[in-house]
Amino acid sequence: MTGSGITHLRHVGIGVPDLPTERGFYRDVWGLVSTVDDGDALFLAAEGSPEQYALRLRPAPERRLDLVAFAVETQDDVDGYAEAVTALGRGLVTEPGTMQTPGGGYGFRFLDFEGRTLEISAEVEHRSARQLHPKESIPTGLSHVVLNTTDLDAAVRFYTEILGFKVSDWLEHHMCFLRCNAWHHTLALSDNPHASLNHVAWEMRGIDEYMRATGRALRAGTDLAWGPGRHGPGDNTFSYFSAPSGFVTEFTTELERIEDDATWTPRVFRRLPEESDLWGTAGVRKAEPFVGVPDPGAWTPPPF
Ligand SMILES: [Fe+2]
Repeated sequence: MTGSGITHLRHVGIGVPDLPTERGFYRDVWGLVSTVDDGDALFLAAEGSPEQYALRLRPAPERRLDLVAFAVETQDDVDGYAEAVTALGRGLVTEPGTMQTPGGGYGFRFLDFEGRTLEISAEVEHRSARQLHPKESIPTGLSHVVLNTTDLDAAVRFYTEILGFKVSDWLEHHMCFLRCNAWHHTLALSDNPHASLNHVAWEMRGIDEYMRATGRALRAGTDLAWGPGRHGPGDNTFSYFSAPSGFVTEFTTELERIEDDATWTPRVFRRLPEESDLWGTAGVRKAEPFVGVPDPGAWTPPPF
């Protein structure tokens, strides 16, 4: 790994068959704000985050993962990562350069070992964010993304050795939780029959705001996939819902922080209700929404 490393998750892009419905859900139920509609895609931001946008929606015949975008500090870091990926013997989707997306910046795109499009960028202009008020139950920003993989060990190798993530914990040999800063996980990888998006999680201001948001989604009739509850790995709360597209989206808060990075030893949690649902409140987990369908976006970068 070169450069100073990935600092955080910037945004996730998805393609959906029914763009107006998906936008309505993320705006009215989830609490994101529309920022830019450039005619090709819609960009939605979290009010409490300085990132230009956290979610990019684009029309597509079938739901698909378009890209996952990570941030680094400098243009040199971007170039370092581009060199590391190029050294694997695969071409890049786009060469490092000025980006045309909202906020501009300098970045490049490439495919991971299972054909997911990733973007690494630096110096993207911030939007003006604000501190959310008590009881304001809209996301403060993205928390983490979980990817389904057919080869968990290869996935962990790729994201640790090439991108510099560190292993925080395991859930048996089924999930691996990875960090790029003090938060317990910004990325997690989950063993699955096919590559797909498992879920995207949104950080809330605190427990009260997380529960209010959960209630708002329930009252809106959103399909609850699992929760509310509290996980063992990461100690974070969770309420998982299926968005209209079928992709799973999560309200979370109080994710564990690993302040003493040097002494941290990854733990192995067991797939038992008392370790995956500490409060015992989450009910039966619907498996299918998390498994998803084979992603048509694999090896097919989005057109823009
Ligand atoms: Fe999660």
